[in-house]
Amino acid sequence: MEKTPSETSSVNLPAPFFPPSLAQQNPPRILPPQFKFPSLPQESAQSTVDTQDIGSADGWIPRDPRLVRLTGKHPFNAEAKLRDLYGAGFFTPSNLFYVRNHGAVPLVDQDRADKWELSIHGLCAKPTTLTLKDLRTKFQVVTIPVTLVCAGNRRKEQNIVQQSLGFNWGAGGLSTALFTGVYLSEVLEHVHPTKPAKHVIFEGSDKLPNGPYGTSQLLSWARDKGKAMLLSWAMNGLPLEPDHGFPLRLVVPGQIGGRSVKWLRRIEISVMESQHHLHFHDNKVLPMPIGPERARAEKDWWYDPRYIIRELSPNSAIARPDHNEVLDPSEMPPDATYQLKGYAYAGGGRRVSRVEISWDDGDSWNIAKITYPEDLFRDVAYSDSVYGRLDLTESDLCFCWCFWTFDMSIDTLRGSDAVMVRCMDESLALQPCDMYWNATGMMNNWWFRVRICQIGDGKLQFEHPTMAGRQEGGWMQRLKDDGLDPSKPKFSVRQQSGIDPIAKGMEQAPDVIMTKPNVKRKLRMEDLTTAEAKAKAWFVVRGEVYNGSGYFKEHPGGAEAIMLVAGEDATEDFMAIHSSDAKKKLAEFHIGTLVDPYKMVPQVNNSNDDSQEFLNPRVWKKVVVSSIECLQGNAKRIRFALPNPEQPLGLPIGQHIYLRLRTKAKNSNDLEGELIQRTYTPMIERDARGFMELLVRIYRPTSKSPLGGRMTMEIDKLSVGDEVEVKGPTGNFTWKGQGMAVLHGKEYQINEVGMICAGTGITPVIQALRGIFSDPLSNDVRVWVLDVNRSVDDILCREELDQFALEHSSRLCLHHTLTGTPPKGWRYSTGRATDEMIKRHMPIPGAGKMICIGGPLAMKESVTTSMVNMGWDSSVIV
Ligand code: MTE
Repeated sequence: MEKTPSETSSVNLPAPFFPPSLAQQNPPRILPPQFKFPSLPQESAQSTVDTQDIGSADGWIPRDPRLVRLTGKHPFNAEAKLRDLYGAGFFTPSNLFYVRNHGAVPLVDQDRADKWELSIHGLCAKPTTLTLKDLRTKFQVVTIPVTLVCAGNRRKEQNIVQQSLGFNWGAGGLSTALFTGVYLSEVLEHVHPTKPAKHVIFEGSDKLPNGPYGTSQLLSWARDKGKAMLLSWAMNGLPLEPDHGFPLRLVVPGQIGGRSVKWLRRIEISVMESQHHLHFHDNKVLPMPIGPERARAEKDWWYDPRYIIRELSPNSAIARPDHNEVLDPSEMPPDATYQLKGYAYAGGGRRVSRVEISWDDGDSWNIAKITYPEDLFRDVAYSDSVYGRLDLTESDLCFCWCFWTFDMSIDTLRGSDAVMVRCMDESLALQPCDMYWNATGMMNNWWFRVRICQIGDGKLQFEHPTMAGRQEGGWMQRLKDDGLDPSKPKFSVRQQSGIDPIAKGMEQAPDVIMTKPNVKRKLRMEDLTTAEAKAKAWFVVRGEVYNGSGYFKEHPGGAEAIMLVAGEDATEDFMAIHSSDAKKKLAEFHIGTLVDPYKMVPQVNNSNDDSQEFLNPRVWKKVVVSSIECLQGNAKRIRFALPNPEQPLGLPIGQHIYLRLRTKAKNSNDLEGELIQRTYTPMIERDARGFMELLVRIYRPTSKSPLGGRMTMEIDKLSVGDEVEVKGPTGNFTWKGQGMAVLHGKEYQINEVGMICAGTGITPVIQALRGIFSDPLSNDVRVWVLDVNRSVDDILCREELDQFALEHSSRLCLHHTLTGTPPKGWRYSTGRATDEMIKRHMPIPGAGKMICIGGPLAMKESVTTSMVNMGWDSSVIV
């Protein structure tokens, strides 16, 4: 409950603190008076441990599931979605506060916190050891608002241009809190630094492969009270959470978050800067020409003091419109405006002095309105026993983010292709137009651009540059997929400056080789379960087996992150998180290849030799449209001829291909020749040669789906004789025949398979049915199909399905459901796939059973959740 200042001043601080998330679910909190200050956020202490953390060293920490994980299961690195972060207001609740952990969180319980000691030693007259109680009682307790920003904030944009050494931060790698503690400068005065001391080194107590996390500050800066560095134990009036350094951390306002050492144990005053591994090998912006490979090979770059990052540089982002937000101007009055909103910050206590908006690719700029909630603390001093002195009345420094708004006329919005923001600080440092790509992927602060798409019926849809972590979406990836250069967007002239690697005769970057040429050992999945394999943490990436223990010591995420994937196919996590450099490094630990004929990559061979299968996962190959059949429900069956009519396609059942084509102009204003690509599952027949067939539903713009399907609309324009390119196979599921399936590299003997599909998700089902029913050695396999469509006309391949059901009535249970109005006499179900329907028309869970789901992501997710609730093991749902 909120208290008045006089009441709060009599409150005694419970000592020492214990993280509220562990102690209780709804921690009581004393708020500073609300009449002047920005409100404290609604904290929601978490009580459950996420399943992803169970079994990891952090398996005791409850975390908010809304945080977007950036580095797989462990260590924990996460940010809130921009919408949630911005929506939470000026202060970020600790459950949504971004987290950057290099390893496991030290487990500190009440007892350890009671005995926590901070040792301060080195070049000083009075080396000392202080407990938390000493800190609170011997020095003035103070509270200040501070925004912490990870140096990697917005890195995903850089990674799309070229993978850096770091993982994919979105624009939510920053958070703000009221930090309570004591000024470092006062503690330093207490110990009396002596000459020739130059640096103050801070060390955390986390156990990392190359020693504890540590970094340093220049002594002159650390002694400067104006820089306001704090030894802090509380955030927003509550003890620090385990993820944020409980029980004690350093908080360095105005500098990158990497300098704010958590779980602080040791301070050393020294003539030298910190010698900690991560002080040198992290938080650097190396010169642009030094790519990840050189950075790794040529160590000197990391030790060059010129490349250290200390203070933040000016940066800003647009939070409203949100990614994918749709605006319907027809519902607004003619003179209506739309309010763009976002955040901005600068470093070193400098104030953001202007925020500017452009809607013509930066040809002209317009001034946005800035609010600085931090200023509310400057008018009045406040003090109580929780916050100590909260007094910014004499400070002119800005250590927090500010917010900006800009009212834009709907007409202007409608007429533009993108809106973008940049800010300037009071030293006149300005966010640049161009990205400064660098090997560590840090300090990205080029203009933040949001694309505006006209999506039919006059509606507008907005697209952010990227989405954090593994979330898909954003105009940068789309430009890249289309063969354009995402670092040179020109929206107002529709990407005219995009570099098309093919048109320019440039070669595409070769795939990184992750294997050793002399490794010939063949391994089976069961070899990964032996004692040796377990001890050495063997794991699989793209069908190749690696000895994880070889990298235990060096792995930046610690040995634990590798142990967690021991015996598993780690392809997805590994490929999503690691730089090309790390991928290359993996080759050192290559010990063999999984025996799986479908996963073995065929030799690259462009000669189209008849004896080889046509598809090659590394080489794009041309196929020619040979026939087009228009089907009901806006679908087309398109047959493509392979160059050699006798050549098999080489697509294992269950796998997909990539298909890419060059766009055709609709009218003379349209640009022609952009490359776009998607994955498809061709419907193949056993022993078919010389062709492949695709079944594609054409998504044209409608009022419900105003964008239409960009790829399918291009496919719609194809005529007989046109060429497209294909590459493959790809996918983590293969039906091998004889009742054997391989999922994520693991073999399963299957006797019942359930398939739930929607729309064109039927194509892999047809492919599987053809494979299963034409294989005399799969005679024991029972199949269940539940096909979801809107109307009867939308059911694709119905004749073939019915034929299968008739011929194999003892083995195939086929069921349909329609989400729209069913025709008279409809004998199947109506509505979406419900739990009841799934129970009736799918096998019951058990050994030798598997479920395949084909259709939109939302359906896949909801069906998977239902099936897991029904007792299915998620590892056999594909
Ligand atoms: N301190 C320790 N001991 N270990 C760490 O991994 N990460 C640093 C810094 N302090 C780190 C640390 C980095 S890179 C950042 S950005 C901030 O902590 C993040 O602080 P937060 O997780 O509380 O947001």
